[in-house]
Amino acid sequence: MICDILIIGGDGDLAFRKLYPALYHLDLDSCLPSCLRIVSVSRNSASAEGFADKVRSLLLKHKDGEAVDEAVWKRFSARLQHMAINATSEAELARLRTHVFTDTSRDLIVYLATPPAIFAPICQSLWAVGLVRDNMRIVIEKPLGHDRESFLQINNSLAALFDEDQVYRIDHYLGKETVQNLLAMRFANALFEPLWNSNYIDHVQITAAETVGAEGRWQFYDEAGALRDMVQNHLLQLLCLVAMEPPASLAPWAVHDEKLKVLRSLAPMSKRDVHDNTVRGQYVAGNNGGQAVPGYTQEEGAKASGSLTETFVAIKAEINNWRWAGVPFYLRTGKRMQKRFSEIVVQFNEVPHAIFGDQMRSGTANRLVIRLQPEEGIRLHLLNKVPGLDDAMPLEVVSLNLSLSDVFTHRRVPDAYERLLLDVMRGNSTLFMRADQVEAAWQWVDGIAAGWHAGKQRPMPYVAGSWGPSESIALIARDGRNWQE
Ligand code: BG6
Repeated sequence: MICDILIIGGDGDLAFRKLYPALYHLDLDSCLPSCLRIVSVSRNSASAEGFADKVRSLLLKHKDGEAVDEAVWKRFSARLQHMAINATSEAELARLRTHVFTDTSRDLIVYLATPPAIFAPICQSLWAVGLVRDNMRIVIEKPLGHDRESFLQINNSLAALFDEDQVYRIDHYLGKETVQNLLAMRFANALFEPLWNSNYIDHVQITAAETVGAEGRWQFYDEAGALRDMVQNHLLQLLCLVAMEPPASLAPWAVHDEKLKVLRSLAPMSKRDVHDNTVRGQYVAGNNGGQAVPGYTQEEGAKASGSLTETFVAIKAEINNWRWAGVPFYLRTGKRMQKRFSEIVVQFNEVPHAIFGDQMRSGTANRLVIRLQPEEGIRLHLLNKVPGLDDAMPLEVVSLNLSLSDVFTHRRVPDAYERLLLDVMRGNSTLFMRADQVEAAWQWVDGIAAGWHAGKQRPMPYVAGSWGPSESIALIARDGRNWQE
């Protein structure tokens, strides 16, 4: 693997916060090819000054006090180079072609850490100066449009220049360790698969709750909202991994094909369904970890005219296929919630015949909880006899608890971007999103957005630091179930 990485928008927040730290850690773990070069470009000429120092200081900030390894830093910083180049300008980009990327036998990875609005002109310039070639890959990240149509526009501009297998669309959730472990849990163990269907599973919950607000990116967030920012990508990708059929292999096409089938089987929502099966919320001033926090429309950068953007969404989704008919998938995500956690709950059915009488009350059926963050692990809730001589055979719910940090004690859990960047270098797109998946996800989400618009469904207020609007509790309680928190 002989390659170079070009980061366009290399002095931006994404690059400093995620990309350089991930690349440094890959170097620390000896995963980077010895001759790999990392070239950052941005329009800002001031950035070249002390660029490596800035990378280092932000690296320290994100390493929770862990020291930088001096030998590795020396090697890593020697790879780094920053140039003031406007990547939409062919003349400026040509400098890279003639002075930096002269050896066309080296693989070239181009990471577009820029707003999607300039993807097309950048790609045109890359092509015009001869940087687009067979051994080149392009990496992009959301927001990939704000609906199906705008996604297709972005995608068509890329498809005109690149083959689909050259385009790596990142959903950083897919790089999370526990998300990959979901594939292992389902398809490396024989135990769950026979039970993984509507005969044994009552329902599934997928929650991504955050305690942060729109902080520092109000305007960007306000154009998206929780549905586009979290559901269209992260939550639907998790849903796919839970619901998909076993793929023939881990080859990208095999996994992508199965995920696509799930997305295409999502029951489309009519205006009535949207009204009945979705909840929009927006936080108002409240409390976060003992501290008073402002409401969404009072956050820094908020528009004086207010906003009807949702910061919370709950959805009851159905998958119209043989395996999942009649099994609701409850999805929920929100900012300024009581606790930060992302979790998948698979709730099994109650036993068909209760020989332990009313001890088998509701809420005691088996439950598998896959926690993605903060502490990554898997718990299986089982009913167990309480030790003792009591005639009544008292039972209690206990859990088999697999905490990743307890089992793999000396293993560092890599950040999602480390896995994803390494996979791009290796040319493995299994953990990325194929264009048809993104399109299918938009199609379903567009139906919800259209239903909200047609029904004039305004976001319901919820107090910051709570579990969202009471309507979200009602959405699941109506079915005789409740959210697991
Ligand atoms: C991003 C969203 O994709 O994911 C953010 O744009 C959100 O709004 C973030 O905060 C959550 O990611 P994580 O890894 O912290 O769960």
